[in-house]
Order: sequence, then C-alpha cells, then structure tokens
Amino acid sequence: MINKTVMPLRRTRAVIQAPGDKSISHRAAILNAAAEGSARLTGFLNSADCLNTLKALQAMAVPIETEGEAVKIRGVGLRGFKPPARSIDVGNSGTGIRLLSGLCAGQPFETTLTGDESIRRRPMGRIVEPLRRMGAQVNGAENGNRAPLRIRGGQLRGMRYISPVASAQVKSAVLIAGLYADSPVSTSEPHLSRDHTERMLSAMGADLERDGLTAAICPGADLQARDMRIPADLSSAAFLIAAGVLMDDAEIAVVNVGVNPTRTGFLEALQRMGADIAIENERMEEFEPTADIRARSGALRGAEFGGDIVVRMIDEMPILALCASQAEGRTVVREASELRVKESDRISAIVEELGKLGVQAEERADGFVIEGPQEIQGGVCSSQGDHRMAMTEAVAGLLARRPTTIQNVGCVDTSFPGFWELLESLS
Ligand code: S3P
Repeated sequence: MINKTVMPLRRTRAVIQAPGDKSISHRAAILNAAAEGSARLTGFLNSADCLNTLKALQAMAVPIETEGEAVKIRGVGLRGFKPPARSIDVGNSGTGIRLLSGLCAGQPFETTLTGDESIRRRPMGRIVEPLRRMGAQVNGAENGNRAPLRIRGGQLRGMRYISPVASAQVKSAVLIAGLYADSPVSTSEPHLSRDHTERMLSAMGADLERDGLTAAICPGADLQARDMRIPADLSSAAFLIAAGVLMDDAEIAVVNVGVNPTRTGFLEALQRMGADIAIENERMEEFEPTADIRARSGALRGAEFGGDIVVRMIDEMPILALCASQAEGRTVVREASELRVKESDRISAIVEELGKLGVQAEERADGFVIEGPQEIQGGVCSSQGDHRMAMTEAVAGLLARRPTTIQNVGCVDTSFPGFWELLESLS
C-alpha cells in the first residue's frame, strides 16, 4: 500500500496542463475501434483506467499503437471485433465496463467483463436491464446486477428506454449497443448527463438526434474514424482549481481544459460561492468546448446544491465538500445519492475521511451538510481506494495546520498520473 504525506503550503503561482479527459478518452478509443479507417488521438489519458480500455479493445483484435504521446487506433468497423481469448479486466473503471458492455452486446460472441473489488461491488443492473431488453444475453452475479458480466449479443432490437438515473454510462451503453439494432434506439434520463458520446457519435457520422433529455440513434450508418485532440479533464483540473481558490495566496491557471456545459457544474458552484474564477480563451476544439481556467485565492460563502447542477459536478463532490468546509456559512448538497455507488460510497467517505483531518460534515441519505469555515488539522486519513478522495485529501493537506498522510494512494493513477509530482511542484 502506497502512502503519501502532504505538507502545508500557503502560497503558489502556477500554470498547469492537466491530463487528458478520462470520459472522452474511453469514448475516443471505443468508438474509433468500431469505426472505418484509422484515428490518431492526442491528449489521450494514459491512466490505468483508459489503458485497460485499450487493452480490452486489443483483446478483441483492434490494432492499437502508441506513437510518442499519441495513440493510433486502426478501426475494425462495427462487425470486425473478434472474441477475446480470456475475460476482460477493466480494473477500477465504471466507464470502461459499462461502455464496453454496450459494445459487447452488439457482438455475436460471448465476452466476460470484470474488474477490481470496487467494480465488482458497483451496480450493473442499470446497464444489464436495457441491454437485455434489446435482446442481448447477459449473465452476472446477483442476477446480473454485479460483475463479472457474461455478455453474448449480436443483432439487437430497437427500443425506447427511460433511464431512472441520470447516467452518461447508461446512456452511452445503450447508444453504443444501438449501433447494432434493427431499428432506432432512444434513451431518456431525468437530468442531462455528460454528452460526450452523443457529440462524438455525431462527429463520426452516426445518425444521432437529441431532443432535450432524449438521445436517439438510427442504426445503419458506419462510423468514420476521426483524429481527435482530447482536452484536459475538468474533473482532474478541479483539484488544482480548488487549491488555487482555497490557499491563502495563490493563482493557478489550468490550460486547455474541456468545458462542456454538461461538466461545468463545479465551476458554476464555486462562482456561486463567490470564488474568483476566470474562464478564458474559450474555444471549440473540434466538437468539445475548451478553455483556460484561472483560479485565485478568495473568500467563499456556503450555498445549496441539488438537481441538475449535481449531475453536472457529480465527480467533483468530494472536492466541493472540502471547499464547503472553508466557506462562511452552510453548504447543503442534496439529490446526490449516486455518490453512494461511485468508486467508494463518497458520502460516507467524505464524512469519515475529512472527519479524520478535523472537518465535520453531516451525512444525509442523498448528500451532506457542512458548516464553515473550519480549521483543517491534518493527520492520517485513507483514500478508501478512491482516486478522487485521495486527491481531495491531498488538497486538504495543503491547507492543514500539520502534515497530512494519505493512505492507499495507488488509485490516483486511475485518472491523474503525475498528480503527486505536480502537487510537489506547487511549492
Ligand atoms: C462517466 C459518467 C459518470 C461519472 C464517471 C464518468 C462517463 O458516471 O461519474 O466518473 O464517462 O460516462 P455515471 O454514468 O454513473 O453517472
């Protein structure tokens, strides 16, 4: 088990290029593998999660090479995948297993998908149910609600699916499987989740329509491979932005960050709390909006969050909780029960682990309440095997009175290789 100790730091100036977007990297790999032609992906996230997705595709006979910083994928077309010799291990990646399940549902052979202990705990029924309705045979532990999943598919049926959860992984699994259906497939959700799959499918020539909370794919068109420049991940940048806002005397700029509006809830939340955040040089990089983000120290005030904005910052809730602990007044997060089924139960992890550092938070079934400002004492805490908890605790360590030791930090490699070196470079 790897542990890291973070020393308090009060002042910094930095310009940072954060690593590539994890969600977009998974999709760029999977969709280009299923396309006609070759694609060169720059800015691809070379983290454990995304490398596992590349390995899964290679195991299904997709030629993939790395060319310096770039990943080159030779698409095999929708029907060129081959049965993998052994079961596919996605490691820690929920996006990996759920999107690949959508792809495997379209293949006329059996694939077994599994992952680490956290993945085997997470709910899979949310994708298994719609894929079964389309005609795929899916077996798994607990009647298909847990990995390992054994999937045999092929020709699928069209359907109109109404998802009970706002989940981009569910939506994407259904749309990817929809490429293999005999008639249109639509999927609706209660709030709009990240729409990278829809944007990418459209850019690659799929017949995709969007209408509010519904996305529909009309099967039949081949996908065309596309070179892509993947922006930096706002969910990784969020830790640096928070450090910039929360330290006593800081200015941190993170450049070339994806600012797709389905992902920018955290920036809006911080701005609502009074943070000094500037979104500069906003531009369209191919089909994803991109910008530079500058964060400066300043006072925050508490705020209440629920509904749509929670979906648009779901991965930033641990770091939002830390920001709330430094804000004047009360911050309430509700309608965020999805946090319970992430890499850890993030509601209880926030309460338990930030508690060890001296931050009191009240646990609610669907969120948390934090009164601030509170002094962070430092001490010893654990990531609970969750990368976003580890990085939140690291930023807490910068603000603490004493050194902070974070146990079990190997998980950070799933999304942010180089994080610790970067943190060190701030001093
Ligand atoms: C992701 C979707 C979200 C998010 C996850 C990445 C994606 O999960 O939390 O980190 O890439 O589609 P859900 O689809 O479960 O909400």
